[in-house]
Amino acid sequence: MPTCVVVGAQWGDEGKGKVVDLFAEECDYIVRYQGGNNAGHTLVVDRGNGPEKTVLHLLPSGILHPDKVCVIARGVVIDCDVLFRELDALAARGIGVAPAQLRIDLDAHIIMPYHRDIDLGREAASGDAKIGTTGRGIGPCYEDMIGRRGIRVRDLLEPSRLLDRLQAVVPDRNATLRWLGRPEVTVEALAAQLAPAAERLAPFAADCRSLVGDAWRAGKRVLFEGAQGTLLDVGHGTYPFVTSSYTTSAGVCVGVGVPPRAIEKVVGITKAYATRVGAGPFPTELFDEDGAQLRARGQEFGATTGRPRRCGWFDAAAVRYAHRLNDFTGLAITKLDVLSGFDEIKVCVAYHLDGQRLEVADADAVSLQRSVPIYETWPGWKQDLTAVRRLEDFPAAARAYLERLTELCGVPIDVVSVGPDRAQTLVLRQPF
Ligand code: IMP
Repeated sequence: MPTCVVVGAQWGDEGKGKVVDLFAEECDYIVRYQGGNNAGHTLVVDRGNGPEKTVLHLLPSGILHPDKVCVIARGVVIDCDVLFRELDALAARGIGVAPAQLRIDLDAHIIMPYHRDIDLGREAASGDAKIGTTGRGIGPCYEDMIGRRGIRVRDLLEPSRLLDRLQAVVPDRNATLRWLGRPEVTVEALAAQLAPAAERLAPFAADCRSLVGDAWRAGKRVLFEGAQGTLLDVGHGTYPFVTSSYTTSAGVCVGVGVPPRAIEKVVGITKAYATRVGAGPFPTELFDEDGAQLRARGQEFGATTGRPRRCGWFDAAAVRYAHRLNDFTGLAITKLDVLSGFDEIKVCVAYHLDGQRLEVADADAVSLQRSVPIYETWPGWKQDLTAVRRLEDFPAAARAYLERLTELCGVPIDVVSVGPDRAQTLVLRQPF
């Protein structure tokens, strides 16, 4: 079973990093295909000295496996400072990353310093219409890619080419910076700032579309690591409250440059409840004590920005929408342990919208805002689940809850996670 995509089935932060790290053991290549350092993938791994936490924003979550090849494909936007900081932090813990272990596509776009400034400036100018971005320059970088004003890895590597590109784009970018009241930039200062980054990036740069395509054709096991979640997809999410990339499984093809047939398994990652960061509709959001409990028990604060996450009950209508787009072959249900202690647990089975029952979410932001969840109530359980490793050792109420989720979503469960540690996982079906 050579390829598998790991995709967020909700609004991001589902625990994709942990699942990728887990599956990475069984595969040869781990490929990030979209997003940038707006992601925050947390891994907790015991390398012999007790559990150690690693938060990755840009490096693929397979990076702790020294015998695997990690790839940052062309669909990812790269902030060089963040990349080098992550490599340095790993090196400080004795985890070296050789160029052969990390390949970065020559056609990937660079997040320029002015992209961060434009992102922050736009949000500041938007008042109540804020998206609540991570402020990392992701949207402005993708805009420049589509607007043909982007600077790619290959441009950085050739000083004359970089100068030509900067001369072509800087006047336009300065017009935007001026309009936002932000400091303007110069070609010379940018070129000088980027020169050391180019030197450090060069050994990692590669034609990753051939690398990954050839690996797939040779029958190697390739894991594609999604970032954010399906409902944040720029085309299919709750627009305009979305990120600026294609987060669904289809994003693999354009993000890496492999054909659709290269996608075999698709594992949808979903929490046993739901969370969202930033603005936008969230039908099952809780504003009461239950929501506060989910936030506190689930440590629901952003891995990238530290912002408190909005919390709510599991939304099967939203996950069914994600299934429709991704065709999940299995689900990974994370953070089931967080639900221990609730007397009752609610699940949204469908919505009421304009007098109609809706089984599958309409992701249009205005429709979703008006969608009213129809809940089913399930008995909770008191037992701590963090030490459970076999399905049959779960309390009956937890097993019944899992069975109901699989029934409501129409997808079998591959993985159940009961804590942040790599060991706190039940793999029911291995995709590789
Ligand atoms: P951007 O990706 O920084 O442009 O932010 C756009 C929206 O996507 C905001 O609502 C962010 O909170 C959300 N977002 C971006 N990345 C993540 C993520 O990794 N997890 C959850 N939400 C995210």
